[in-house]
Amino acid sequence: MQIATTIAEVRTQVKAWRREGLTVGLVPTMGYLHAGHASLVDRAAADCDRVVVSVFVNPTQFAPGEDLEAYPRDFTHDCAVLEKHGCDLVFHPSVEEMYPPDASAYVELLSEMPKQLCGKTRPTHFRGVCTVVAKLFHIVTPDKAFFGQKDAQQLAIIRRMVRDLSYDIEVVGCPIVREADGLAMSSRNTYLSPQERKAALVLSQAVRLGQDMYAKGETDAEIVLHAMRAHIAAEPLAKIDYVCAVDNETMMPVLALCEGTLVAMAVYIGKTRLIDNFITGA
Ligand code: PAJ
Repeated sequence: MQIATTIAEVRTQVKAWRREGLTVGLVPTMGYLHAGHASLVDRAAADCDRVVVSVFVNPTQFAPGEDLEAYPRDFTHDCAVLEKHGCDLVFHPSVEEMYPPDASAYVELLSEMPKQLCGKTRPTHFRGVCTVVAKLFHIVTPDKAFFGQKDAQQLAIIRRMVRDLSYDIEVVGCPIVREADGLAMSSRNTYLSPQERKAALVLSQAVRLGQDMYAKGETDAEIVLHAMRAHIAAEPLAKIDYVCAVDNETMMPVLALCEGTLVAMAVYIGKTRLIDNFITGA
């Protein structure tokens, strides 16, 4: 497995692969890798001849006061995980390599999409995500790029960016990987104290509750969301940011659940903000 820290190194390697007629998959990450990330790498290795994984804690998607400095990092461990899962090239650039000091070009969806759900508390977040992913797409020029359904709004926004900017890249969404007790895997789970770790189960429990209600025939979004919110609110350490039902392409709220509706939540457990979701009928 090769490790590249410069854009030029990545371009040279990808061009060499292209000359051999090989297909290239990209898995963008911020590192501190867990089994959720590894599942994306597995899928990329199954779908593509060569796999590039980026490990870059992207400053432009963090607002002032968010956890940019505290965000966990362990590049040695990340490399061990990636090697095991069939990654061919790790791209681990410095902030200066990705963003020249006077960089002023950004990529942003101007529709309502990035203003919904997580966009309400993180208004500049998706501009940072789109900008860094657009740059990675230009640097790596992958045939396919792999993203987790865990970040459902991010996935929908990337799909829209690829459509609107005519990238010749197939975006592949991959299922949420969970701990044995149901908690969706996240690099931020490391912030949780043992007591908070237990309290965090209300998210996946609310997901299951919503899924069960829909499976039993309940399609009134407010009834399902109300039950999910009540379950979360009963946990003293939990504070709801949002629990919403939206169209999975536009992220706009819906009143009735139908096959393919996204039911998504963000909940503070102590100071840590966690997200989880399900798609009805999936
Ligand atoms: P990060 O949070 O490191 O996640 C990298 C990828 O792993 C994302 O596509 C995310 O949806 C996926 N992922 C995380 N937890 C998962 C889980 N439990 N199951 C399945 N997939 C999971 O998302 C980002 O980084 C950044 O915003 C990025 C796209 C890299 C841009 O900086």
